[in-house]
Amino acid sequence: TGMFTYDPGFTSTASCDSALTFIDGDEGVLLHRGYSIEELSEESSFMEVAYLLLRGELPSKDQLSDFEGTITRHTMVHEQLSTFYRGFRRDAHPMAIMCGVVGALSAFYHDSTDITDPKQRMIASHRLIAKMPTLAAMAYKYSVGQPFIYPRNDLSYTGNFLRMTFSVPAEEYEVNPIIEKALDRIFILHADHEQNASTSTVRLAGSSGANPFACIAAGIACLWGPAHGGANEAALNMLREIGTPDRIPSYIARAKNKDDPFRLMGFGHRVYKNYDPRATVMQKTVREVLTALNVSDPVFDVALQLEEMALHDDYFIEKKLFPNVDFYSGIILSAIGFPTDMFTVLFALARTVGWVAHWNEMISDPAQKIGRPRQLYTGPAQRPYVPVEKR
Ligand code: CMC
Repeated sequence: TGMFTYDPGFTSTASCDSALTFIDGDEGVLLHRGYSIEELSEESSFMEVAYLLLRGELPSKDQLSDFEGTITRHTMVHEQLSTFYRGFRRDAHPMAIMCGVVGALSAFYHDSTDITDPKQRMIASHRLIAKMPTLAAMAYKYSVGQPFIYPRNDLSYTGNFLRMTFSVPAEEYEVNPIIEKALDRIFILHADHEQNASTSTVRLAGSSGANPFACIAAGIACLWGPAHGGANEAALNMLREIGTPDRIPSYIARAKNKDDPFRLMGFGHRVYKNYDPRATVMQKTVREVLTALNVSDPVFDVALQLEEMALHDDYFIEKKLFPNVDFYSGIILSAIGFPTDMFTVLFALARTVGWVAHWNEMISDPAQKIGRPRQLYTGPAQRPYVPVEKR
């Protein structure tokens, strides 16, 4: 009992102050530390955006190269961690592996877990950003039965990740700059998105003073759901299942049918009620990448036509449902060669930047308290216990 505001799903509750990311959902605006996502995705790099989110300002040239050097120094994972992978079945979902191995980092790095020390917090943050690509590539390599590839520190963050994922020891591997640029842009588009479910999860877990690596593992678990980061995998699977444009109307009809739980994956957003600005950039990038790689994917046509039909359909207009960031990303990732079950892992890799930035911001906030929502109790009133023989 007591008087609490009832707000299931937190549609109208601000849980914290934050200076990281601004969203205007009606206008379709997304800013990181004041810079628009359009400009950042066009002109910046993922490492620069990571610096911006963590430190608050764009780096100078020297600051950026120092930061890249710091991240690069932490790309290796403890050799013992590779044995952890062998405990999983080869057909394990890579997100299941990521929940395990990222959480397991907490058993390796005891010198960066005193959360009262800002230096240790920054080391933990750097380690997480640096090791995610290594762990993600290992999850992929494990699933296809190829040897793990060690990081190479002369490559960019994204180039190194591509090489750890796609190279094999027997052959030379050259990072394709078009792919490197496109993937780096996808990482920028996923770097942060204010108090979404997984970021709120990381904050809530961190509010108890929990180990930072364990907090990020909690974020990964939350991101996995199809209503959140899992939507990129679900969206491409859906587009492939639709297969040809003539089958689109039946899927739109299903999405509108209240008796059918089916939803158009990659459509709709809690905050954006106009258009997801990330989807605009993503759609443009798909076109560029497919053209540059000289590949055509019939699924892109299906996606474009599905968007077109939905945008002219009363149901979608009335409910303000538009493509979100996850609608087009899968088409690029698939053209690059990632299997669908790696898509959400890539989202997690990029969002780690936002997660650690929020975690640091929360811990240094003097108003920070353990997150502890209340409830409206709906169970029985107090009643006497009845011994089992009398029930
Ligand atoms: N297809 C068909 N109908 C939909 C869809 C959709 N994709 N999304 C929402 N609706 C309907 C929903 O049925 C509801 O109708 P009614 O008011 O008649 O009950 C109305 O629109 C509002 O939906 P809601 O579920 O109350 O809205 P929400 O803010 O709680 O959910 C959402 C937002 C993103 C979870 C939801 O739109 C959804 O499930 N979309 C599909 C999954 C998806 O693409 N998720 C990715 C989100 S973006 C980035 C990320 O986090 O990864």
